Amino acid sequence: MTVDRYGVMGYPVSHSRSPVIHRLFALQTEQDMQYELLQVAPDKLDTAIGQFRRTGGKGLNITVPHKQAVLHFVDEISERADTAGAVNTLAFRDEGVFGDNTDGIGLLRDLTGNLGLRLEDSNILILGAGGATRGIVGPLLEARPQSLWIANRTLDKAEALALQFGNMGPVSACQFDRVPVSEPYDLIINATSAGLRGEAPPYPQAAVSDKTFCYDLSYGLNPTPFSIWARKRGASHSVMGWGMLVEQAAESFLIWRGVRPDTAPVLKQMHISA
Ligand code: ATR
Repeated sequence: MTVDRYGVMGYPVSHSRSPVIHRLFALQTEQDMQYELLQVAPDKLDTAIGQFRRTGGKGLNITVPHKQAVLHFVDEISERADTAGAVNTLAFRDEGVFGDNTDGIGLLRDLTGNLGLRLEDSNILILGAGGATRGIVGPLLEARPQSLWIANRTLDKAEALALQFGNMGPVSACQFDRVPVSEPYDLIINATSAGLRGEAPPYPQAAVSDKTFCYDLSYGLNPTPFSIWARKRGASHSVMGWGMLVEQAAESFLIWRGVRPDTAPVLKQMHISA
């Protein structure tokens, strides 16, 4: 009997921690499966997914830059993936390909479960209006904040998201230098890719108080530029996105295997510092 195959497909993907996380989940839950790192360039995506499926592939995590491109492979899509306009989890089933997006729920589980934040009636600021933001706005609004601002270098993109999600809750858009600061923010989330590019945008300094929890969706062995900035600005906490990474992986694992792994011991094994 062949072992069920899973993997993460991206470009580049060599830095991904998903294989380590899923192998730990598989050990913990005694699942017989393998999980591979699959580096696939955009022009090879169709062929690579087809081949993976034909050779025992049961499921994939999809990462940058393919999260939107895989939408056309999907026969059935979850509501949250549809809202996010992006898929990070594919499950190859007898009845067809199921596409889901576990990024938003992963963030929410980390914020409210692991880190103990209460988001109801909170003031939230998201920096950035790209694909990462699109995946988290819906779940954050479902937590019923008092306000949610999306600040972006390019105003149009923030406005488009505010318009798209406006029916779900109190979401507004602005540029970095126009972030309203009449009330302190409880939570600031960095969803820009600036740090990955080694760039330091003019993040809104006045938005941070000593009551502000700062969360960077990016993570690394060393503190990210945003997490260093937040700490310097006197934020109450400055945390990188390791927890979201592990939690979104656990949700994908649940979709594939029907078992929810315990994330706490796995998170402990990852490098968590900021
Ligand atoms: P995507 O493909 O998901 O849109 P991206 O192009 O890497 O990802 O950009 C993600 C976000 O990071 C965007 O909000 C982008 O701002 P713009 O919409 O203005 O391009 C933001 N971003 C990237 N580099 C940045 C920088 N140096 N300063 C400010 N914002 C930056």
